[in-house]
Amino acid sequence: MTAAYEYETHEYDVVVVGAGGAGLRATLGMAEQGLRTACVTKVFPTRSHTVAAQGGIAASLSNMGPDHWQWHMYDTVKGSDWLGDTDAMEYLAREAPKAVYELEHYGVPFSRTEEGKIYQRPFGGHTTEFGEGPAVQRTCAAADRTGHAILHTLYGQSLKNNAEFYVEYFAIDLIMSDEGQCQGVVCWKLDDGTMHVFNAKMVVLATGGYGRAYFSATSAHTCTGDGGGMVARAGLALQDMEFVQFHPTGIYGSGCLITEGARGEGGYLTNSEGERFMERYAPQYKDLAPRDYVSRSMTMEIREGRGVGEHGDHIHLNLSHLPSEALAERLPGISESAKIFAGVDVTKEPIPVLPTVHYNMGGIPTNYWGEVLNPTADDPTAVVPGLMAVGEAGCASVHGANRLGSNSLIDLVVFGRAAAIRAGKVVDAGSANPVLNQSQIDKAFDRFDGLRHAKGSISTADLRLEMQRTMQGDAAVFRTSETMAEGVTKMTAIAAKLDDLAVTDRSLVWNSDLMETLELTNLMPNALATIVGAEAREESRGAHAHEDFTTRDDEKWRVHTVSRVDGNKVDLTYRPVITDRLTTEAEGGISEQKIAPKARTF
Ligand code: FUM
Repeated sequence: MTAAYEYETHEYDVVVVGAGGAGLRATLGMAEQGLRTACVTKVFPTRSHTVAAQGGIAASLSNMGPDHWQWHMYDTVKGSDWLGDTDAMEYLAREAPKAVYELEHYGVPFSRTEEGKIYQRPFGGHTTEFGEGPAVQRTCAAADRTGHAILHTLYGQSLKNNAEFYVEYFAIDLIMSDEGQCQGVVCWKLDDGTMHVFNAKMVVLATGGYGRAYFSATSAHTCTGDGGGMVARAGLALQDMEFVQFHPTGIYGSGCLITEGARGEGGYLTNSEGERFMERYAPQYKDLAPRDYVSRSMTMEIREGRGVGEHGDHIHLNLSHLPSEALAERLPGISESAKIFAGVDVTKEPIPVLPTVHYNMGGIPTNYWGEVLNPTADDPTAVVPGLMAVGEAGCASVHGANRLGSNSLIDLVVFGRAAAIRAGKVVDAGSANPVLNQSQIDKAFDRFDGLRHAKGSISTADLRLEMQRTMQGDAAVFRTSETMAEGVTKMTAIAAKLDDLAVTDRSLVWNSDLMETLELTNLMPNALATIVGAEAREESRGAHAHEDFTTRDDEKWRVHTVSRVDGNKVDLTYRPVITDRLTTEAEGGISEQKIAPKARTF
């Protein structure tokens, strides 16, 4: 029997789900073009996780020395360990300067050089001369609060352009037609318990990552992979989920982020012998090697008995040699975080740090316009009509197996903007909206009602903890066939327990028990796809460091993992990596030979 929930229907040209950097940039771009645009978000826009982004946004502005978009593209290709799609990576690097200047003109308060230009700092893996020259200063920064500055600016601009915001609305499920077109989304309004159906010609998922599938993450507690969960339930695919980034410098104990900008400004890591050990692992770029490299090196130091602290289980990040005025001007936020979360005065003592889950390279597969793909053997780039995904929720794929620091914020704005440009072409504002598939709305309410009245034997908090501990232990910085096989068995059993959940609060108004349960049903397919995809991939590439298969195998594994999750089962297929370029060499594009796979050293 169908659960009886009354609901209000809202019609728009476009509905964006999520109000972080990507969601707001898409919302703003859609609204600027006169499309009737709604942005539906489970938290107030300026509380979205982008607000926590610290170090900056990559773009080859050349404000602090020579730089080129081709160098940025090369670094991104190499950073991805040759798993990224080169069309998307070229688009990112080429459009980045334009996207940053637009932000500047919208009002983002960037830090400035003496001459008044946007200040740029070095970040890991960003180099000159196609990896042959020194590190480049490419990361544009607003002190160490860059995400905060961008988010507030984009929200103000979206309001100015008459985008309509539905704040504290939780998206339950997508509404798909029988032919596979997305028609809208079913939502629950958290503060009064009412139900809402958003009907649109285009739905844009900008729901962020799923860092909270792990026990210790820099991600906000709201990062629960809601877009991926909805997509999986709609029978659509997730891509490259096994690639999970560990940020080298989460504060030991709390997981709170200490920006890579700290090393960009001259900070360095040391072991228990006081040694700057990165010189051994990455002789050229040292502490500014990419994150997968640095996280693995730190883990090796700890494993080999050179960790610091009472238990020898972490590493020191040193900043006290930097002038205190520089710390106050460039790194005020992390100086405060180190005090609050580690009791450390950065002008005098090192910060205790540990690699901490930070970013999901995988997500909902898209092309570089943000259109969601439903890859099949015959058509690996088939588009799902009416559905886009941008930001960390999506997988364009510009980050491949490992993302470079500060390529996340630029991904948000370049692809949020690209989605708006595309929507301007494919959405006909004058046409009628799709007729809603009632059976899908009923199905969403049935699922919601089943969870609301769940009378099983395990609480949401207990099941979430089981999942988080398993993912932390078995899909870690280093992985073995044995740990991953064990992880798959455990996660398959854990996911089955979603049918045995106990929800105690049956109300509809501010029911955080129910909301966290819905979030857990989203985290679970993301987590399951991660461990199953990881176990299957018998090579080491980027963030996937497989101790039984220690080298990269381009012949067999330079492919994207496509996973479809049904309950606690995951079906894996693979699709080719795109190696096309958008600009020919004659037009100034990068050569095929430059971006051909090679050994990855720093
Ligand atoms: O270290 C940081 O500031 C994080 C930046 C990023 O993930 O891009």
